[in-house]
Amino acid sequence: MDSLITRSCSSSNSLFFIALLVFFSHLSFASCSDHHDLESFRGILKRESTKWRKQKQTCDVYQGSWVLDDSYPLYDSLDCPFIRKEFDCIKYGRPDRFYLKYKWQPNDCDLPRFDGIDFLTRLKGKKIMFVGDSVSLNQWQSLLCLLHASVPRSNITQENNGSVSSMIFQDYGVSVMLFSSHYLVDIEEEDIGRVLKLDSLKNGELWKEMDVVIFNTWLWWYRSGPKQPWDYVQDGESILKDMDRMEAFRKGLTTWAKWVNSCVNPTKTKVIFQGISPSHYNGTEWNEPDVTNCGKETQPINGSSYPSGLPRAAYVVKDVLSQIEKPVHLLDITTLSQLRKDGHPSSYNAFRGMDCTHWCIAGVQDTWNQLLYAFLIS
Ligand SMILES: *[C@@H]1O[C@H](CO)[C@@H](O)[C@H](O)[C@H]1NC(C)=O
Ligand SMILES: *[C@@H]1O[C@H](CO)[C@@H](O)[C@H](O)[C@H]1NC(C)=O
Ligand SMILES: *[C@@H]1O[C@H](CO)[C@@H](O)[C@H](O)[C@H]1NC(C)=O
Ligand SMILES: *[C@@H]1O[C@H](CO)[C@@H](O)[C@H](O)[C@H]1NC(C)=O
Repeated sequence: MDSLITRSCSSSNSLFFIALLVFFSHLSFASCSDHHDLESFRGILKRESTKWRKQKQTCDVYQGSWVLDDSYPLYDSLDCPFIRKEFDCIKYGRPDRFYLKYKWQPNDCDLPRFDGIDFLTRLKGKKIMFVGDSVSLNQWQSLLCLLHASVPRSNITQENNGSVSSMIFQDYGVSVMLFSSHYLVDIEEEDIGRVLKLDSLKNGELWKEMDVVIFNTWLWWYRSGPKQPWDYVQDGESILKDMDRMEAFRKGLTTWAKWVNSCVNPTKTKVIFQGISPSHYNGTEWNEPDVTNCGKETQPINGSSYPSGLPRAAYVVKDVLSQIEKPVHLLDITTLSQLRKDGHPSSYNAFRGMDCTHWCIAGVQDTWNQLLYAFLIS
């Protein structure tokens, strides 16, 4: 397995660096229409981010609670052109608005305000990619809306190629990309059928060319029946009809971890893993045993802890990540999102199905992206 991964990441790094240098030197001569505004902005932001760096050293931003803040949401979802029918809650009739008004308040510090112009300026000429399932798609769209709200008149173009969708903020040369992958590891079509290969990861070639990558996988590991997109699972030499799903998840994630260790160049690429995104179908978890979905939820849970604690998979994630030698940041959104039983589309989507897995846009994932921003500027 190790040799498979290593082989798949031995391309010409030096050539790529030369290409990158050429790209950067080209960009620094490019003119930018927002130039004057930007100069004064940058002064303020530099002070903001210095303050933030000082503060952050003693602060776990993932420990905190949700507080009402009238300046939220950070944008009007009706003005965002990127939202898919699954997540566009207001458009599909969601009547309550409290869920839009909550800000995440860490216990020991304040998060920096999300600033799209600063985000795009810092990432000038770079590529940021979400890799994962529909929760990644959901977060990608939230980030696009946040950025679009900051630069509503800028030139944004779209490119789709196979598993990759890119939105390119042309005035900054920033690509905000999505790579769809349910499991991170491969599924291959073989004579016996579709095989989920826990030891094989072949898409990394593209991922390691990114400047920032945010990975996620979880939603699909317990899928079975007609929704399961594989027929067999391969674990080492054994080809099995099925196996313990949590064990499969751990093995798949470990293959990804090995790929990070052997293939990622940490001076080029910042690697982030998005923690387990919780769903809300089981009211026992929040002390309302008769509740079986999020359909009537309009308020977050008060305080900092979720009655049932973390899901098992969150421990697997922490355990596997702790074995990676290269720097990987855990975007640890599990607990803060568990508190947001009110944040899901429920039936306010184009399909009217009860969805307590994904998140309304605008909404909870804007905070995930705010936390992502806070990490990137620290
Ligand atoms: C947007 O950028 C693309 C790529 O640089 C360019 O071809 C296109 O003409 C631009 N559109 C506008 C409206 O400026
Ligand atoms: C699409 O992706 C493939 C594989 O990464 C690449 O070879 C091809 O050039 C891409 N096509 C476009 C139009 O970008
Ligand atoms: C609901 O959550 C409780 C508490 O975590 C757990 O004991 C129970 O098994 C869950 N029920 C279902 C149907 O998953
Ligand atoms: C949440 O907790 C705060 C502080 O303990 C309290 O003032 C507030 O009334 C609580 N809200 C709800 C809805 O329970």
